[in-house]
Amino acid sequence: MVEVENRPIVQLNNISKYYKSRASFFKASVENVTALKKISLEIFKGEIFGLVGQSGSGKTTMGRLIVKLENPDEGSIQLEGQKINHLKRQALKDFRMKVQMIFQDPYQSLNPHLSISDTILEPLTIHGVATRQERQAKVIKSLESVGLSPATDYMNRYPHQLSGGQRQRVAIARAMVLKPEFVVADEPTSMLDATIAIQLFRLLLDIRDRFGVTFLFITHNLAAARFLCDRLAVIQQGEIVESGTTEKIIREPQHDYTRKLIAAQPKFTYGGPNAQ
Ligand SMILES: Nc1ncnc2c1ncn2[C@@H]1O[C@H](COP(=O)(O)OP(=O)(O)O)[C@@H](O)[C@H]1O
Ligand SMILES: [Mg+2]
Repeated sequence: MVEVENRPIVQLNNISKYYKSRASFFKASVENVTALKKISLEIFKGEIFGLVGQSGSGKTTMGRLIVKLENPDEGSIQLEGQKINHLKRQALKDFRMKVQMIFQDPYQSLNPHLSISDTILEPLTIHGVATRQERQAKVIKSLESVGLSPATDYMNRYPHQLSGGQRQRVAIARAMVLKPEFVVADEPTSMLDATIAIQLFRLLLDIRDRFGVTFLFITHNLAAARFLCDRLAVIQQGEIVESGTTEKIIREPQHDYTRKLIAAQPKFTYGGPNAQ
């Protein structure tokens, strides 16, 4: 097991994010949506930190801000003590290597025109990592490390020739090939069957233990969070209503919303590291 250190790798300080509501056929006027409201939290090095909340609560927005796909309207985010808001040039490139995101829908997140081999090669080429031969070796290693083995069975295939679970493994391999410090996994299994989901959870735990990578795991599913996460934050309408160790939140929820999420779970049947 990797030791979780009480040393923050990611810090959010008073983060707010506003959107203009999406124009719709029925609504003529555009309103402001507060996607995140004054969020402050710390994620420790080596942990799997869960962000749990219903659809529309602001989870994906938080993930996108942390990997800098978007910028906050207020507040600051730090990675390893360094503010990421205004990163430029080399500092931004370094950041893009250190922080990766795995998206909800493996059917949309992979480029259908790239072979599996090229899908994983691409970030190495973009960042100019290693020589051509070394990159090839890294692709093979990376595929095998996510259970796509032997790698040669997969390299020349295309995303549509794989199952949903295999595609998400490819997305994980692509995220991991740059040896990131921090990975946001945004509901990575919500499109997959429960048995496939559990295999992927085991893979994420294994990756955390082998590489010491820190995860933000985003989910609407408290049972999934319980299976995977060391600590949780519960988010409702853009605000964190409570946070703490997974066991404490599930055993002694302080907030009505958390109690409702717990009651809405069919049963904690996954077993696993955090099960009783
Ligand atoms: N690009 C966008 N434009 C307008 N509104 C958005 C955009 N992205 C998210 N929102 C709104 O922000 C809120 C939070 O969305 P999101 O972060 O996707 O929630 P979750 O991932 O928890 O389902 C929702 O009300 C959503 O409609
Ligand atoms: Mg989302």
